[in-house]
Amino acid sequence: MEYVIELKNVDKEFKVLNRHEGLKGSFQDLFSRDYRIVKAVNDVSMQIKPGEIVGYLGPNGAGKSTTIKMMTGVLKPSAGEILVNGKIPYKNRTANSQNIGVVFGQRSQLWWSLPLIESFKLLKDIYSIPDQQYKDMLTLYESLVDIKSLYSKPVRQMSLGQRTLSDILAAFLHNPPIVFLDEPTIGLDVSMKAKIRNLIKALNKEKNTTVILTTHDMGDVDALCERIVIIDKGTMLYDNDIEHLRQFFGAYRTLLVKTKKHPEELSEDEKNAELVQVENFVKEAFPDKDFTFTLTEEGWCSILIDESQVRLMKILHHLQENMKIYDVRLEEISTESVIRKIYDEH
Ligand SMILES: Nc1ncnc2c1ncn2[C@@H]1O[C@H](COP(=O)(O)OP(=O)(O)O)[C@@H](O)[C@H]1O
Ligand SMILES: [Mg+2]
Repeated sequence: MEYVIELKNVDKEFKVLNRHEGLKGSFQDLFSRDYRIVKAVNDVSMQIKPGEIVGYLGPNGAGKSTTIKMMTGVLKPSAGEILVNGKIPYKNRTANSQNIGVVFGQRSQLWWSLPLIESFKLLKDIYSIPDQQYKDMLTLYESLVDIKSLYSKPVRQMSLGQRTLSDILAAFLHNPPIVFLDEPTIGLDVSMKAKIRNLIKALNKEKNTTVILTTHDMGDVDALCERIVIIDKGTMLYDNDIEHLRQFFGAYRTLLVKTKKHPEELSEDEKNAELVQVENFVKEAFPDKDFTFTLTEEGWCSILIDESQVRLMKILHHLQENMKIYDVRLEEISTESVIRKIYDEH
């Protein structure tokens, strides 16, 4: 089998009640036949190879979780075809669950009041994991993260980070060929995010597990995903490797300009006035070119430049000759701004 996951022209529609206002309205809703159709996923097709880590990205409400739920067999598509490990997920839910691991964002799949190791033992029985495989897996886990200290801890006493870590380990425990992670790093601090990312990467490498990961954290994407699929309003906007995306936007660079020594001490109005001044100045000097001007949190004026139109150095030179500049910084375009640009352009 060449692909572990195949989606062909998949749609998912939800029938939602049009709600009425007030108490009388809620009473009406009980008997209402006033429905509208929400198309959460619209004509999505993709093919995923064994061992890939795919970042499934999109803004809130884009249709990411709905797609994951169809791939795990929780939801049935309204149209189109899905094959996971060559089987239709919602028709083969038991068989499918042997072949997948799932972590849904903040909701733990583990037993709330059981010590973690007891949850693991239950999973061992549920998935009929052979003794040796189970032992080897725990040895691997112990070499990757400090999991031993959590074995005796019930999930309800864990921090969000520890719980996420435990959930991910639980999802990989029966060594499924595919693991779905829906917003795995949401709500975590920087160091915990790094820990989780390293763990996902290590498990993918060690077990050649296919990982589908939804996120709107660009740090996850930069750390983990070679390939990204972008969805917005149910429709796929992009499916390619991230390098391709960076190359496509490779001509873009960012020039950061500071005209005062301590811009962070300026009021918001003063910062914006600075930005307008820089903006007008650049636009006047290069009237037929496109730029994007933004203010950073620290009060730098940021100019996104398409170098296929005009060289960044030319602008910098012009600014330095004609304006009082305190400091400058150059940046390549970030994954964040690349993806923002894709959303904006659609
Ligand atoms: N069970 C449901 N009933 C009705 N509408 C739903 C349901 N689940 C999701 N939706 C709608 O489908 C769209 C996509 O939701 P979702 O897949 O959760 O997006 P994402 O995970 O990308 O934030 C949203 O407009 C959401 O309100
Ligand atoms: Mg979601």
